[in-house]
Amino acid sequence: MYRSHTNGQLNSTNINQSATLSGWVQKIRNKGFMIWVDLRDRYGITQLIFDEERTPKEVMEIASKLGREFVIQVTGKVIERESKNPNIPTGDIEILVSQLTVLNAALTPPFTIEDETDGGEDVRMKYRYLDIRRKPVRENLIFRHKVAMAVRNYLSAKNFVEVETPYLIKSTPEGARDFVVPSRMNAGQFYALPQSPQTFKQLLMVGGMDKYFQIVKCFRDEDLRADRQPEFTQIDCEMAFVEQEDILNTFEGLTRHLLSEINGVEIGEFPRMTYDEAMKRFGNDKPDIRFGMEFGELNEVSQHKDFAVFNQAELVVGIAVPGGNSFTRKEIDALIDWVKRPQIGALGMVYCRCNEDGTFKSSVDKFYTEEDLATWASVTGANPGDLICVLSGESTKVRSQLSALRMQLAEQLGLRKKDEFAPLWVVDFPLLEWDEETQRYHAMHHPFTSPKPEQMELLKTNPGAVKANAYDLVLNGNEIGGGSIRIHDKEIQAKMFDYLGFTPEEAKAQFGFLMDAFQYGAPPHGGIAFGLDRLVAILGGQETIRDFIAFPKNNAGRDVMIDAPAVIDKSQLDELHLNVVVQS
Ligand code: AMO
Repeated sequence: MYRSHTNGQLNSTNINQSATLSGWVQKIRNKGFMIWVDLRDRYGITQLIFDEERTPKEVMEIASKLGREFVIQVTGKVIERESKNPNIPTGDIEILVSQLTVLNAALTPPFTIEDETDGGEDVRMKYRYLDIRRKPVRENLIFRHKVAMAVRNYLSAKNFVEVETPYLIKSTPEGARDFVVPSRMNAGQFYALPQSPQTFKQLLMVGGMDKYFQIVKCFRDEDLRADRQPEFTQIDCEMAFVEQEDILNTFEGLTRHLLSEINGVEIGEFPRMTYDEAMKRFGNDKPDIRFGMEFGELNEVSQHKDFAVFNQAELVVGIAVPGGNSFTRKEIDALIDWVKRPQIGALGMVYCRCNEDGTFKSSVDKFYTEEDLATWASVTGANPGDLICVLSGESTKVRSQLSALRMQLAEQLGLRKKDEFAPLWVVDFPLLEWDEETQRYHAMHHPFTSPKPEQMELLKTNPGAVKANAYDLVLNGNEIGGGSIRIHDKEIQAKMFDYLGFTPEEAKAQFGFLMDAFQYGAPPHGGIAFGLDRLVAILGGQETIRDFIAFPKNNAGRDVMIDAPAVIDKSQLDELHLNVVVQS
């Protein structure tokens, strides 16, 4: 028996009992005649005491040679501590050790295994197994487990069945590049790893599964960011005989359940906003609605004077920054520099101070009167004490620039409170998106998404204006889920492939199996997929999903611990019919 208790278990009710504990040496204080050791495992920390007078000499000797992260087993008596630690559950007691076994010695770890470590990101990723010993990382993984369990229990109780779908498939277009796997048995042919189980879940509906879900790995070869990993996990869901409203209600229920169960937050009906409205009011299809700073369009009240920059702009738009009049000139200049960075790309920023006495002072006083500026304040909803920030230019660009500034300011002003949750459905996404590079329309969500039935005709005349039965669930400014009602009619699906520029042959080659299935009685169906990593991070009050993944990749898509990707042997390449010259 390695242990009678865990290291988080013993307290004053166990005093005078004997206990055997196992774990890692977290900390050693050696006074020569007395040695204290903090013993750690997943459950907590228990203090051990080795005392010259009460501990056998040979045990004392081994104890004096212990190092950090040694794995040990001890047996001893639970005694009351002299100086108690009220911050931990075991803080009232310590173990007076009579037996000590070193189960495994350890090298000194390359960083301290403490809540606040001295290790940088790179070294912690290389030794991720040591990082996982740290409480914050461990707690995040346990938190993720709790969310996943709550999801499974909820959906299972609602009659959803978890079905596994294959990982070695044919490419499904979701807008990213595929990771491919060469086939040894089929020379020159490749599997693709799924970007999502989209087509399979639709086939499960044709198969009559009615309600499907799966907590499933997905793979996308795209540029990485804090909220993106090349392999990530979806809570993938699909339902038959449903309309958009059924799906929104079902998954609003799931999200509400999670917020209540995991965060103890009760939230009423989720607000809904159309895509167009979200773009107009927040410049973004995933607005953080925990705070205001809504866009005020200023064309009408700013293009009547001689200010050429505004007069030439397609859109002049501003936000009122609460309390922003207190910014110094230097702070405002820093904001201007911030929007001019290449990542944001604004040419400049006009600002207007709203003084407490009701007067205004702008960076364009030469062109605008007090009355003009008062109108800007009323359009942007600025109060005395605020600062109005105005950007101008081409509509799409300027919206995205001002949206980035809005988020940056909210962060700076502490308005993105991590214990406040503001979910939002964004609905009525455009069906298609124009792609400059290929000079073609692409499906904005994916090619199986149904247009609004009443807009089918519009597809011929004004495809860009057609809206889809597609929706995203946004939480605190992050897209945590997205889905749609699908096309279940073979003819319409064929037409859609045609609009998207597939020849009938290409459509058949790529999606023949789905079109075939649609001939055998496909029910109306739709679904959604949540990004589990994102959902967990946000419920945990953070936005970096890496912190909630046991073994994540870095921003270059590398696993620095196992050192992947890596070159493979020539013999392996030959076997896979990959006759390339690899230069290392
Ligand atoms: P979509 O592509 O919107 O939809 O993906 C669903 C959700 O998955 C998460 N997500 C990611 N998370 C981490 N890293 C990534 N690289 C990444 N990419 C996406 C997001 C996103 O909202 N098959 C459709 C769903 C459907 O129509 O039912 C799909 O995959 O949180």
